[in-house]
Amino acid sequence: MEHIKTIIFDLDGVICTTDEQHYQGWQALADRLGIPFDRTANNRFRGVSRMACMDILEEMGGKCYSEQEKTDYATWKNEYYRNLLGQMSPSDLSREVKDTLDELRRRGYLLTIGSSSKNAKFILQRLGLEDYFDAISDGTNIVNSKPDPEVFLKAADFASTPYEQCLVVEDAISGVEAAHAAGMLAATVGDAAEKGCGDFVMDSFSSLLKILP
Ligand code: BG6
Ligand code: MG
Repeated sequence: MEHIKTIIFDLDGVICTTDEQHYQGWQALADRLGIPFDRTANNRFRGVSRMACMDILEEMGGKCYSEQEKTDYATWKNEYYRNLLGQMSPSDLSREVKDTLDELRRRGYLLTIGSSSKNAKFILQRLGLEDYFDAISDGTNIVNSKPDPEVFLKAADFASTPYEQCLVVEDAISGVEAAHAAGMLAATVGDAAEKGCGDFVMDSFSSLLKILP
């Protein structure tokens, strides 16, 4: 792993546990629309854009909404989610994640974000990390969300790092697919790791310190 120069971190479910607030938002919308939904169903939403999640929810419920209805429902979910994000503070950043990031920085890696979320900068601000990362690629600078590689290719471009010298850290299977499509290796935690998906399946975030020199 001596060739790795830049680490690209997914945000929701990797740096922080906002995958839980996403779930609560989609569960609330599904309840409102009378669509059966649970945490297992929510795993399909990891890494994919807000409107792609809305399309999946429509399909799960066997519904046929107009584009305007889908936009309105996704906006309703986002407002519900943003209310939950508003309750976050720097104390929601785990010691393990912060200590691991600091140690990786000390070892000389460039640390970047590669997230499908349009709320990424707001979340980083809530966590007190708004100025921490060397580059941020998120839902505001991409056309195609994971499993398309665009968000990771842009993160590498922003950090001026060749793609093969980047390591992606992900909790989503769609994110591992995106990393591979970008020609990058993926280390996993959370849902993807539980399913054995990824080049380095980790039992905790701090395991990065064992993978990387
Ligand atoms: C990803 C999440 O980080 O961001 C997805 O894993 C989410 O579940 C996507 O749908 C888009 O998020 P947002 O904040 O733009 O609605
Ligand atoms: Mg994620």
